[in-house]
Amino acid sequence: MKFFVDTADVDAIAELNDLGFVDGVTTNPSLILKSGRDILEVTREICDMIDGPVSAEVVALEADAMIAEGRKLAKIADNIAVKVPLTWDGLKACKVLSDEGNMVNVTLCFSANQALLAAKAGATFISPFIGRLDDINLDGLDLIEDIRTIYDNYNFKTEILAASIRTVNHVSDCAKIGADVVTAPPNVLQNLAKHVLTDKGLDAFMKDWAKTGQQIL
Ligand code: G3P
Repeated sequence: MKFFVDTADVDAIAELNDLGFVDGVTTNPSLILKSGRDILEVTREICDMIDGPVSAEVVALEADAMIAEGRKLAKIADNIAVKVPLTWDGLKACKVLSDEGNMVNVTLCFSANQALLAAKAGATFISPFIGRLDDINLDGLDLIEDIRTIYDNYNFKTEILAASIRTVNHVSDCAKIGADVVTAPPNVLQNLAKHVLTDKGLDAFMKDWAKTGQQIL
């Protein structure tokens, strides 16, 4: 399973990238706002740092304008994936932009039927939002499972990019289901390394080591 980082914070991306944990990056208008940076400038910087796909989202709501924005974003770098919302106009933009050879990430997906349409419109990635379904007492992981089944039934090549990841369990559950990618905020990726028994075990080893009076260096 690939790890994308869901942030426009270049320092956080750089730290995770040095560890080899970054297969791609996803951004959205809220994350650009949080970064305080200019979208074109920060996206270019991320693309220079990362070999994999970097999603940059259009903000127009009408297909022709989305296509124009998508073409401009795609010019930033070869590894741009143009992100469009899962609306009727977004699907039109997806079809045109993917036919032109661009990677397209269709975002804000909340149903299996939406994911089916995105695949048929040529999406490179579909982004189902797990956490936001959980927020309204639905099970976001059920959606990942449904999309996996449908895509496998018909051999769709669109990659399932599980988004709105809030917990470490979301990551392992997506891996068990067979999502192609998870995009998670940096803190969730860092939390994957944590376990209370690791901390407890290390503490015991350090106490015993101190009692030996030895040093390695
Ligand atoms: O990738 C989409 C993601 O940024 C949304 O996450 O936590 O705002 O639902 P969240």
